[in-house]
Amino acid sequence: MNRQFLPLFEPYRFNNNVEIKNRLVVAPMTHFASNPDGTLSEQERQFLQHRAQDMGMFITAATLISENGKAFHGQPEATKEAQLESLSQTAELLKKQGSKAILQLHHGGKLALSELLNGKDKVAPSDDPETGARALTEVEIKGIIEDFAQATDLAIRAGFDGVEIHGANGYLLQQFFSSQSNRRTDQWGGDLANRLRFPLAVVDAVDAVRAKHQRPEFIIGYRLSPEEPGENGITMTETLAFVEALAQKTLQYLHISLWDFYKKVRRGSDSEITRLALIHQQLNGRLPLIGVGNLFTAEQLLAALDTGWVEFVAVGKSVMINPTLATLIKEGKTQEIITALDPEKTDHYQIPDTLWRLCVQGGAWLPPVKGKDWQPIDL
Ligand SMILES: Cc1cc2nc3c(=O)[nH]c(=O)nc-3n(C[C@H](O)[C@H](O)[C@H](O)COP(=O)(O)O)c2cc1C
Repeated sequence: MNRQFLPLFEPYRFNNNVEIKNRLVVAPMTHFASNPDGTLSEQERQFLQHRAQDMGMFITAATLISENGKAFHGQPEATKEAQLESLSQTAELLKKQGSKAILQLHHGGKLALSELLNGKDKVAPSDDPETGARALTEVEIKGIIEDFAQATDLAIRAGFDGVEIHGANGYLLQQFFSSQSNRRTDQWGGDLANRLRFPLAVVDAVDAVRAKHQRPEFIIGYRLSPEEPGENGITMTETLAFVEALAQKTLQYLHISLWDFYKKVRRGSDSEITRLALIHQQLNGRLPLIGVGNLFTAEQLLAALDTGWVEFVAVGKSVMINPTLATLIKEGKTQEIITALDPEKTDHYQIPDTLWRLCVQGGAWLPPVKGKDWQPIDL
């Protein structure tokens, strides 16, 4: 390895004493490839086969926890006992590569797809005419909290090293946090404390399952998006209060979902400072942060870690393009890292068919494609 990149391979010890072997994390990536019943498919297996190699942690694709939250075709599931065997295979596949296997727990809320709900209602914190989602009842809210707990129980029994609660990218937990989508007037909506009640109750429920199993070494992370556009969207001030509440919980890490690692604060705080720097400052060492967003090369990953704003750097698109990214860095082959997909090399990347078709069409959230213009997402 080029000594320059050694900081990326320094171990990190979480507050529950678990050591992560390095600072490189595979960002969660939905691959649209699980079987229709949410179990591991052959194409998914191929996609996961090498990508965890030499990575500190591998966070799985958003994995469904309640049947009324399914937001993707081919989404993996942890909604019932029958999926335990498949979850065990996924955990095994990732751990065999030497990485910590983290299952991302997800409910789509109003972003669920009607055609995937088997006739069930689409649900959200409040009625949403645009998507046809209806407001959850209190009993249903408690049921979904239970579903997060059940999925955690499955994850522990399946052999995962941890779970990441998906509170980002506009899905159900974020819908509760945001006054744009949460217009409830009961204890689950209204002021910030009420809007945080659901996400924090999910954290407590997940933590209680870990305690029940007496598995303090099981990792729990929380992923959030720090700001939303729109007049009533989440502001940085609200996010800092949320981060403060999360810092009081027995979590191991926070993961800030960004499309640009260096994105500055939009409003509600000093807009000359980056979102990650501000959150890091707020945490003041109480919890480590994972940062992400358009980091493609070894030099870019190192520069991001060198900012001191994060303890880990996560990579999505570059791991799609470079299935052995961490190994290339570790073995000093950084000149082999590429930054665009070659659409002619269909079989080279082991990207499942549906995701590959989307990639070749091109999109701001997907990897750059050779010979095509590419504009990053600016959110
Ligand atoms: C194909 C694809 C699927 C994604 N699926 C998820 C997901 O399941 N859960 C999630 O939290 N983020 C998801 N994301 C967002 C990534 O985790 C990451 O935050 C984003 O791609 C920015 O990082 P990058 O520039 O390294 O790709 C996905 C991104 C891509 C490209």
